[in-house]
This record gives sequence, C-alpha cells and structure tokens, in this order.
Amino acid sequence: MQLNNETEKLLGEIGVEYLETIADRRDTLVLKVVRGGKHMILKLHSDGESEESKSKAKLLGREAEILSQIPYLTNHLYVGHGKSDGKHWLLIREIDGQEVHQAAKHYRESISNQEERTSHIMALLLKVSSFYDALYAGGYLHGDVQPAHTYLERDEITVIDWGLARKIDEPNLLYKGGFIYFVAPEIAGQMRSSGLPVEYTPRAEVYALGATLFMFYTGSLALDFGIPKADLRKAPMEQKLQRVIENRIFSFKDVGADPHPALEELLRKSLSTDPAERFETPSVFHRYLLGL
Ligand SMILES: Nc1ncnc2c1ncn2[C@@H]1O[C@H](COP(=O)(O)OP(=O)(O)OP(=O)(O)O)[C@@H](O)[C@H]1O
Ligand SMILES: [Mg+2]
Repeated sequence: MQLNNETEKLLGEIGVEYLETIADRRDTLVLKVVRGGKHMILKLHSDGESEESKSKAKLLGREAEILSQIPYLTNHLYVGHGKSDGKHWLLIREIDGQEVHQAAKHYRESISNQEERTSHIMALLLKVSSFYDALYAGGYLHGDVQPAHTYLERDEITVIDWGLARKIDEPNLLYKGGFIYFVAPEIAGQMRSSGLPVEYTPRAEVYALGATLFMFYTGSLALDFGIPKADLRKAPMEQKLQRVIENRIFSFKDVGADPHPALEELLRKSLSTDPAERFETPSVFHRYLLGL
C-alpha cells in the first residue's frame, strides 16, 4: 500500500502529520506520525477483495476494540481508530523505550560479573511474566506473545500487536496460528490444515511466553530447528511446522547461556510438548518464576 494523495488526505482527516514509514506491505502501512508534538504510530489497512485482506481488516478492528476496552492492561496505547473511504486505521501512542530483547542483550554483553548479570536479566524476565500474569488476571490472553512485541518503557513492560487477543472464555475466530518460532506444537499441528480457526489456550500462551523468556535469557531460540540461523527465514514453512511439532528444546548449555538450572527447569516445563504438562496459566507460571 502506498503513501499517496488518498492516504495524505486521510492523515489530514485524522489530524496527524507524516514522519516516516515503518512497514509497507501490500495493503497495510505502519507509519510514524505526529500530533500536537507527540509521536504516534498509525496502522492503516486498505480494503481488498481477498480473504487475507478481509481478515487483516478484521484483525485491525479487533486490535482497536481490545486496546480501547482495556487501556489499563495495555499501558494506555490506544489513541483512536476509524474507517474512511475503504481504509481502516488505528492510532496508538509511540512507545518511549526499547525492545526487552535489546535490554537483555545489553546486560548479557556489558556486565562481566555472572551473578550480577543474571540478577539483572532475571529482573527483566519477571517484569515480562508479571505483565502476562496481570493480563490473565484481568481476563485476557494476548495471543501473539513474541520478543518483537515486547518493549520496556522506563520500568514498565508494554506489549504491541493485539489483533489476536481475546477474553479467556471467548474464542477469537480470527486466530489461525501464530509466529512460527514461538508457537506451541499443538498449534503448529492445527496450522497445517491451514485456513481454519485454531484453538488458542492459556497453555499455548504459557508456551509462547516460555519461548520468549528463553530468548531473553539466552539470546537464542528455544527450539532446535536443525537449520543454520542464516537459512531459517528461507526454510519452507512445512519443514518449520514439522520441527515445532517435534519440539526439540535446546539446553542452556547447548546455546552457551549462563547456567541457571532452576530457571531452565521452569522454562522446560513451560515448553512441554504435552500442554497438560505445562503450567496451567501465565499466572501460575509467573508465581513459579517469582519463587526462584
Ligand atoms: N506503539 C508503538 N511504538 C513504537 N513502535 C511501534 C508501536 N507499534 C508498532 N510499532 C512498530 O511497528 C511494527 C509493526 O507493528 P505491529 O506488530 O503492531 O504490526 P503488524 O502489521 O501486525 O506487524 P506484523 O505483521 O509484522 O506482526 C513493530 O514491529 C514496531 O517496530
Ligand atoms: Mg507484529
């Protein structure tokens, strides 16, 4: 989707000025804009005929609905949303911080004392698990937990991309699977029969959270895809789905991380192939992490 006269007109209607393009895909745009001196993020989706396009428009609507319903659980990201001339838009405030992944990497690389390093990284991990604990306690699942959606703003966690979120007891029919590197094996199994709604559960959220925390602690994916990192992106989806289903989890030693047997055991449990062997909810997982 291009930034053209029509889009410029829409920016005028919304009352924002263009700063830069963050992402430009076929029928969606993510822009950095400014209003009243404040930087904001504008997600735009242009109506298309394809099923995929229709589903993306619904996801953006869903994200707007969730963000406006629970500002207190989403760190007050929501600013406004609407539809004009076949274009759906969502305006959120710009996060004033960095990805948790960057903060963790900084600790791993800059603190030479192992005990001190671990204590800083563990504090970060607990902040993240506490966010998902509060979200669950508030009655919601995020649905797309992954490092790229997880930010640190001053001392608080802010999470983005809420289109797949849902109330715990209401299925989200838009959910057809998640980001392959953080998705639970039972979800990958359902993703193979593509196009159908997939059942996302609290235990699937526990898995994605475990995979995300594993990456923050070690800097590596939890799952051994058996493919060199540089080739992973290009590998066929069918092959990656198969590896997720096999669920071969790296040990901390395999990936050269600081030893922490008690944490490793909890992460392994959260990443169990059988959902019944994982923590029941993100809140239970958080309580165990707090006990370390
Ligand atoms: N509130 C925000 N503050 C700063 N940057 C943001 C914010 N929201 C989104 N971004 C940036 O825009 C990118 C895309 O945002 P988001 O993940 O919500 O969109 P998406 O279209 O659903 O993306 P994808 O399909 O890649 O998951 C993010 O990776 C991030 O770099
Ligand atoms: Mg995203």
